[in-house]
Amino acid sequence: MFVPEGVVTNERLSLFMDTSDEWIRQRTGIGERRFARRGQSSSALGAEAARRALADAGLEPGDLDLIIFATMTPDHYFPGNGGLLARALGLDRTHALDIRMQCAGFLSGLQVGDAFIRSGAARRILLVGAECHASLFPWSDADWAVLFGESDGPPSPEARAWGTAHRDRAVIFGDGAGAFILEAHDEDDGRGFAGFLMRTDGNHWDKLHVPGGGSASFPYFSSDMCADDRTVPVVEGRQVFRLATTAMPEIVREIMALHGEPLPALSLLLMHQANLRINEAVQKSLGLADAQVFHNIQRYGNTTAATLPLVFHEAKAAGRLRPGDLVGFTALGAGLHWGAGLLRA
Ligand code: ACO
Repeated sequence: MFVPEGVVTNERLSLFMDTSDEWIRQRTGIGERRFARRGQSSSALGAEAARRALADAGLEPGDLDLIIFATMTPDHYFPGNGGLLARALGLDRTHALDIRMQCAGFLSGLQVGDAFIRSGAARRILLVGAECHASLFPWSDADWAVLFGESDGPPSPEARAWGTAHRDRAVIFGDGAGAFILEAHDEDDGRGFAGFLMRTDGNHWDKLHVPGGGSASFPYFSSDMCADDRTVPVVEGRQVFRLATTAMPEIVREIMALHGEPLPALSLLLMHQANLRINEAVQKSLGLADAQVFHNIQRYGNTTAATLPLVFHEAKAAGRLRPGDLVGFTALGAGLHWGAGLLRA
């Protein structure tokens, strides 16, 4: 994993909007998050995580035969980040594809990568999830310096007005990147991904979406879009909260039943980290013990496509993943897409 060095506490964020450490912790569980700086685009963050994953696996970029990049904050509208990451790794013949499934993007990438490997189309895949949500904030470098605690400020009145108008969304996101190397494992010892279940309900597309900047806008981009606030994500928080606390437990139950495993057999359930209260409700609904879950939203916020590799990496580093463990993954994000996966470590 790789997270940008810029830590932004709830107190610091409170300078930029009418909110408080208490409100944010109570409603979301978040204490601080990292934000990228200008130049630290999502492909750049992803490249750092990719280099770390390759080093960890003792591999060179040339050992890869596929790259999959999941993000909802790509460097450019097009081309996607996959090719940019390949370029950053010095590759010019390795196929790279992009996934646009927001908070469910990494889980979908795992399923796609697993399917490529099972079909024999690839043997070694780099899967990256990375986000630069900071680029959605229309703040000047001077305001960012205040946010990072490098200048006493105060923030400009415009930055504070924008922050307050978007406070429900501005407090929940954070930046970061994570990478997995997926490799064919020929021994029949039961280790590896057991399977995935992914679902989509496009009827909820508008619960989490960016209104402007697309062919539905016609034209894609127009000069009035920023003034009309159509370039900023719309989050219907309460409805997403309700959908997440229903859909995630349901799909975890379904995948466990499909594989003939009872819920107590789960050594660890790694959930997307959108809100600690959502995850507590999922844990309760499934009747899981505290020892069966692991969270890191307190320090990173919702890092969208980067969340699952971040939480996996930190759970592993904390000694929470032993050989033979049954590890579950679940996520839900804009689309609406959600799903679950099972790994025998
Ligand atoms: N600080 C202080 N007050 C706030 C803040 C804030 N940051 N944000 C909202 N409020 C106020 C509102 O104005 C409202 O005040 P009012 O009652 O006087 O009108 C009150 O708090 C309650 O607002 P809600 O929006 O109903 O707050 P809620 O308790 O639902 O929390 C949150 C909002 C944290 C977004 C929650 O709904 C949530 O986590 N939802 C799901 C997460 C989500 O949508 N994640 C996005 C997934 S990202 C992806 O897939 C791309």
